[in-house]
Formats: sequence, C-alpha cells, structure tokens
Amino acid sequence: MAPRRFLITAALPYSNGRLHVGHIAGAYLPSDTYVRYLRATGADVRFICGSDDNGVAAVKTAREQKRSVEELTAHYNQSQARDFAGLNIEFDIFGGTHQPGYVKMHEKFSQDFFLAIESKKLFTKRKTKQLYDTKVEQFLPDRFVKGTCPHCASDNAFGDQCEGCGRAIDQLSLINPISVMTDSTPELRETVHWYLRLDELQPRLAEWLAGKKDQQSCGAAWRATVLNQSLGRMEAEGLPERAMTRDLTWGVPVPLDDPDAEGKSLYVWFDAPIGYVSFTGALCEQKGEGVDAFAHWWKDPECKVVHFIGEDNIVFHAITWPAMMLATHDSDSLQGVKGEYQLPHNVVANAFVNMKFPGKDEEKISKSRGNAIWIEEYLQTFDPDPLRYYLTAIAPENARTMFELDDFIGRNNGEFLNAFGNFFNRTMTFAHKYFDGKIPSPSARDDTDSRQLERRREAADKTGAELEDCHFKAALTEVMALARAGNGYFDLTKPFLTRKTDMEACGRAINVCFQTARTLTTLIAPFLPTTAEKCATMLNLPDDWKRWDKAVDELGEGHVLGEPVILVKKLDAKELFGE
Ligand code: 2FM
Ligand code: ZN
Repeated sequence: MAPRRFLITAALPYSNGRLHVGHIAGAYLPSDTYVRYLRATGADVRFICGSDDNGVAAVKTAREQKRSVEELTAHYNQSQARDFAGLNIEFDIFGGTHQPGYVKMHEKFSQDFFLAIESKKLFTKRKTKQLYDTKVEQFLPDRFVKGTCPHCASDNAFGDQCEGCGRAIDQLSLINPISVMTDSTPELRETVHWYLRLDELQPRLAEWLAGKKDQQSCGAAWRATVLNQSLGRMEAEGLPERAMTRDLTWGVPVPLDDPDAEGKSLYVWFDAPIGYVSFTGALCEQKGEGVDAFAHWWKDPECKVVHFIGEDNIVFHAITWPAMMLATHDSDSLQGVKGEYQLPHNVVANAFVNMKFPGKDEEKISKSRGNAIWIEEYLQTFDPDPLRYYLTAIAPENARTMFELDDFIGRNNGEFLNAFGNFFNRTMTFAHKYFDGKIPSPSARDDTDSRQLERRREAADKTGAELEDCHFKAALTEVMALARAGNGYFDLTKPFLTRKTDMEACGRAINVCFQTARTLTTLIAPFLPTTAEKCATMLNLPDDWKRWDKAVDELGEGHVLGEPVILVKKLDAKELFGE
C-alpha cells in the first residue's frame, strides 16, 4: 500500500521583523511536531515555509528603517531561517516570495493563478475611490493609512485592519484618515482594481466548509474557532467581492496587457498562499523532480494539504485561499479531482499567547511594549527543548494562553526534569551501577510488570490518536503520564531495596523500566527531537527508533546501553531575563 501523503505548510512570516515565542507557539512548533509524527508513522510528507516578502508591511518598515525593501526582507528571511533551525523546526524548504532564487518562480505561479481566475471570469474590474497622498503622489493601500476605527473607536486602526478590535476595515470607513508616509490628510481619487467574486463563489465555499463540520477521519476534526470564524461569519454576513490588486510597485506585477494594470501589483494576501505552491515547485526542482512535480502534492486527491496558522490568518486560509483555488477549477466537484488544486484537508489555527512577567499584568506580545521574548536571544542561552516543551504544554489550541516566566522555569524544573529526566536518570544510573550497563533479565514477570508494559502500549496509542487530531497539548500530557507511571512503577517495585534482598526481582523491575524508557523515547521525539536523540543514544537504540510502530518493541536481555548523560538541565530564569 502506498504511504499516506501530506503537504504541510506553516504560515509564511512577514520578513519585516524577528520571530518571538508567540510566532513559534502559533504555527511553527505544532506543524513541526505534526510532521515529525507523520513521518514516524511512515507517511510521505513535504513541509513548506518561507518568508512573506511582498505587500505594504515590508515597504513600510523599509521606509522607517531607511533601507531598501530587498535588503530588509533578505535580512529577516535569513534571521528567521536561523531561528527556526535553532529550534529544530525543520522545513523541507524555507523560501521567500521575493528572495533571489525564488522570486521568478513565485511570480510565474502567482501570475498563472491570477490568469486562471481571470479566464473563468471570476474577477470584476471596477473603478473605485481610494485615499491618495498628494505629497508623495501615491495611493495609500492597506497599512499606509491610519485612523480611528469605525467599530470600536480605537485610534490604532489601519486601512486593512483595526489593532484594537481585530476587525477587517475598509479604508474609506476610517474616521480621520492620515497618511503614514507624510502624516498628511489624504484625498480621495479614482483608481481601478480587480475584485475576486467571493459572492459568486460563496455557495460552494459554504457547502465545502459545512462538510468540514463532520470531518473526523485522518487528520482531524476542524477546530471550532476555525469553523466559527469562517463558516459562521460567512453565514452571518455574506461575502463581499474583495480587491486582489493594489497600487504598489513592490510585489508581483498584475499580468494583464491593460493600461489600467500599470503600476499595480497583486494583493499580498493573493500571492502569499501561492508561496506555499511556488516553494513546493522550487523544492521539487531542487530534488531533481522538475517544477511540474508540484502537482503531485497540490493537484492529487491522494495528498492531504494541511495549513498551520495563527488565529489572525483564519479568514484568509479558510475562505479567501480556498476560494482562489475553487476559482481555477474546471469541474464543480468539491471532493477533489486529479489535476485541479485540492482544497485544504485541514486548517489548524492556534490563538495567540500573551506575556506575563513577574509583578506585571498579562498583556499582548508587542514590539512597542518591549515584552517579547525573541528567539534569537533565547537561543543564546538555552537549548531548544525547554521552550518546545513549554510552548506545547501551554499550547493555545482553543483559546489564548499565557507565557509566564515562573511557569516556564517551573514546568522545566518541576515537571519535565522531575518526571521525564529523573526517570531516565535513575534507570540508567541503576543499570550502570548494578547490571554492568546492560538490560537485565525479564525473568518471570508478575501482574505489576505486565500492567506497566500494557501502560506503554496504551500511551503509544493514545498519544498517536491525539497527534492524529492535532491535539498537541493532550498528546504531550499522555507522554508525561507515561513518564510519571514509570516513576510510580520504580517507586512501587523498589529496585533500590530488592538489590540487597532479591536480585532477580530487582533486574525484573529495571528491565520493565527500560522498556518504558524505550517507548518514551519514540513518543517524545516529535515534541523534543534533541532530548529524544539523547535518549536513543543512551539506550543504544537501532536506527529505526523513531518509527511509531516500534515504540513498544522490547529491548532484549543483555542489550548493551550507552553512557548516561544529563537529559534535562535545571534552568535559572535570571540567565535569560536578568534579576
Ligand atoms: O500573518 C502573517 O504573518 C502573514 N505573513 C501570513 C501569511 S500566510 C500565507 F498565506 F502565506
Ligand atoms: Zn476597532
């Protein structure tokens, strides 16, 4: 039987800033964990990411920092790639929508996509009024205009979205609009844009999303937050047409031979998700398969496409992007026809994490408040796994959660070190001291031993089931429960006493502890790859130790162990954050 096939994407980060813990908790750590797990089950997976370089955000930051957009985006593209590598978040490719080596292919994919939709007559070309800054002689798309929110009256509203209430904003509805380029009041001028006929596509989108309410098999039920924000909002408010072009020269040029298209580029939210596809093409080319092999991942119903994102990206991934794909289809089928873009199997969104420093209130992570923990700085002092552990333990899967400094340290020292680290430590130390660094004989196991061995199987099954459903926090809880059960078994069977009275019973207990440790090694690997490697080296496991179906394999009597190493280090908060 052919292996299961998955194309997994993680939201393309804007290349106008560094990454902080909130980004990692949102899309990147869960997707990396999922990919590692899928591979452990034998699935054929491609894992795609890269930077989102186009659009107004990059132009605006480059202007503020007085550098070219090319230089800015290249700088952050590389800084982000380093951060991901430092955390062992291992994409198969990390491209960039405007990076040398990717930009040409990305332009071609994006323009072909636009033309496919145009040929289906699913764009309306329409005259519209837009804010224009006369001082710089430029239209002001999206974040180039600021003002007061018509919904919540916050002064922190931009031409695309309000930072106060999170609502999408039509720039013409902003109260007292101001150009962020010159701080002047813009005037209204006429321009032309191409609007995607979301209204026309709505019935089929609604039908497709409604089907996702019942999706249970392989790859999980959709999260309620994703369905509520997409299907819920669509049913309540309907879908208006949306402009997919901008008056901006930085980006993918509008590929039409039309004077009205001059000086315009595709809307960044049009080309960004196509980045997933163009980077897949680039990866196929790098692997010597040829660009066209991207279709094997994107246009084949046998392959499941799963997008990992943060909560602010839900509408774009569950409505706009599927609508774009539907708009290129020849067939009416929602089931997936070979040769046509496949709608996402799942869109897995996390909420944000807020920060809480000692003596301060919980608050949103924000650069201006200076409360972010930057990955670059974290990695200067710490290993990746304490952060990976903590961000999964507090994963904001259903609602926002809080990154609390004391909790981060406490969970590492009090929870992970105590339960997981100590179990390995005491088991390894014992074997080296009393059994010559080898697995002792299982001899005749009793009920307590059998129950503990059975417990391993249950843990592997439950952890696997939770991971299939993208319930990462619950899956990690299962692994930790097995570590605690291992400690409980150690305490109950007391090898530290029986070694003086009944060496056979002592060996039996240590044998079962090692079988438990072996299982824990495979189960923890998707979450904490570095720790798992250390476990595997200590246990001297065969090369295929990551395979999920090997997790409950037994280590035989006399199996030679590796040397014990410290698995989990005690952390001190002061190292990272000062007094
Ligand atoms: O919110 C963001 O950071 C966007 N740059 C995500 C884009 S995801 C995808 F569509 F590329
Ligand atoms: Zn608002």
